[in-house]
Order: sequence, then C-alpha cells, then structure tokens
Amino acid sequence: MTARLKHKDLLGLETLEREEIELILSTAESFREVSERDIKKVPTLRGRTVINLFYEASTRTRTSFEIAAKRMSADAVNISVSTSSVVKGETLRDTAKNLEAMKPDCIVIRHASAGTPHLIAKSVACSVINAGDGAHEHPSQALLDMLTVKEKLGSIDGIKLAIIGDIAHSRVARSNIYGFSKLGAKVVVAGPATMIPPGIEKLGCAATFSADEAISGADVVMMLRIQLERQDESFFPTAREYSRLYGLDNLKLARAKKDVIILHPGPINRGVEISSEVADGQYSVILNQVTNGVAVRMALFYLLLGASKEEVKK
Ligand code: CP
Repeated sequence: MTARLKHKDLLGLETLEREEIELILSTAESFREVSERDIKKVPTLRGRTVINLFYEASTRTRTSFEIAAKRMSADAVNISVSTSSVVKGETLRDTAKNLEAMKPDCIVIRHASAGTPHLIAKSVACSVINAGDGAHEHPSQALLDMLTVKEKLGSIDGIKLAIIGDIAHSRVARSNIYGFSKLGAKVVVAGPATMIPPGIEKLGCAATFSADEAISGADVVMMLRIQLERQDESFFPTAREYSRLYGLDNLKLARAKKDVIILHPGPINRGVEISSEVADGQYSVILNQVTNGVAVRMALFYLLLGASKEEVKK
C-alpha cells in the first residue's frame, strides 16, 4: 500500500509526529533522483491541480513548489496577488473559496499573518500547504533543511544544531526547532536579547546571547536572514555591530566541529549575517538546500494528494 500522511494539510511541524517527519524525508529521498534524469517527470499526479497563492515575495519556495508539481505531472497555477482581485478588496476567505470552486487539489499559501493557512484549511476541502505564515512556521523549509543535514551527515539524531540570528521574527527558526528536536538533535539558538523571545526554550531548544557559545562544537550552523520587513523598530544599533557579534565568518566558524556544515534559508544578506567567504566556502550547503527543496515538495504533494478522502483526517 502507498505510504500517506494522515492529514489533509501541512500547516506546521509542531503538530507532526517524528514518524510523519521521517516518512516525508524518506519519500523525498526517493524522489531526489527524478531531478537528475534527462526527462525530469513522473506521471504520479497527472490530472491533479496545485494553486500557488503567495501574498509575500518568494524566489525559492514558490518556484520549487511549481517545479515539484510539474515534475509530478500535476498542473500548477501561480496567482500573482498584485494582479488578482485581492487589490480590489476581495477578502482572503472569499479568494480561497473562489479558487476552491475551480476544484484544485491543493492550495499552497504564503501570507504575512500567522495562522492564515490554518484559516484557509478550515474553509476549503482541498489540501492546504503552509509556505510561510508571518513569524509562525515555514514547515517545508525545515523539512528541506533536515533532508540536507541527513544527506550530508547521515543522521540528525544526536547532532548539535546552532541557529543564529533573528529568532523572534523567524518562521524558519520555529519550524526547525520543532523538526530537529523531534528527530533527536540538540538545538541551540543565539542572537541579541532583542531577537530571542522569552520562553523560546519551551519549543525544545536552549538559548544564548553568545554566537560563539552556540557555534562551539556545532555539527550544523544555520544562519538566519535579518528580516527588515518584519521589524517596525530597530533591534540592533547598526548592521556593522550586528555583523561583528553575530555574523558568521571564518573566525567564528573555527569554533565549530571540523566538518561542520553551514545552512541558510536564503535570501542571504552578504556581509551582514554571513560573510561571502563562508557563504561560498567549502562548508556551505546553501545551494544543496535549494535542490532538496524540490524533492521535499514533491514528497509533500505525493503524500497529501495521493491519499484518498476516506483515509485523511482533518
Ligand atoms: N527560503 C525561502 O523561503 O526563500 P524565498 O523567500 O525565496 O521563498
């Protein structure tokens, strides 16, 4: 029998069990070779329709969801919010209900407000995938991060992962804390006091204001982008000061394990949270993350859209 996720939607990693995350990763591993073929297409989701509804800018996530759908032979439609009826004042729910009326099998949504994909998932019968909701979660990003670590290190169980930067505004950090800790990693987050939310440890990580402490002995260092678009006040004095204390350069990296790998979800601010020598250096797996993004999104479509309606639970 085909393996399936017993959920209609993928809204976050907080509510997924370890076995479900492992199923997604092993399915993604089996799809990875499709992208290496001359003809990069399998017929698995022929006749299915995926709608990408992005209310925020995206290069990697939107493109890889589209490529993943097309490599599975599904039809992929991208809605550009700036040229849709959203600009005429149509509500989010009305937009979703009208898209649903065209009988898609999945809506992939990114929105600046936390909880939006959950709201849409309750309103529509088709599957909904959260492609990033405010500072809440970005589950497919964390899954591709886990796939990349598994590919490079062999296992996630027992590793030390340091996540450094703007933890407070980062949906990537939250999903990765949930995902990596469920798979047995020791997760340490680091950043300025203004960027570490009080009580973050309750999510399953340790926290420090010292980047050096977090990086010491780390198997994996994940740098986060400074998200100026989510900050309505200044959280650090200057970019130069931030870079000195929290930016990753070869000097800070020397504290990590010898064969450390460096992750960054992108887009990167070169010279702010990461130096070019590190971003382009031998330990960086940033572009491997992007490649693995397609495989993870193929796996999500397969596991969500392959399920029959009787088998899924909402
Ligand atoms: N990592 C990520 O979400 O990148 P995009 O904003 O380009 O989709």
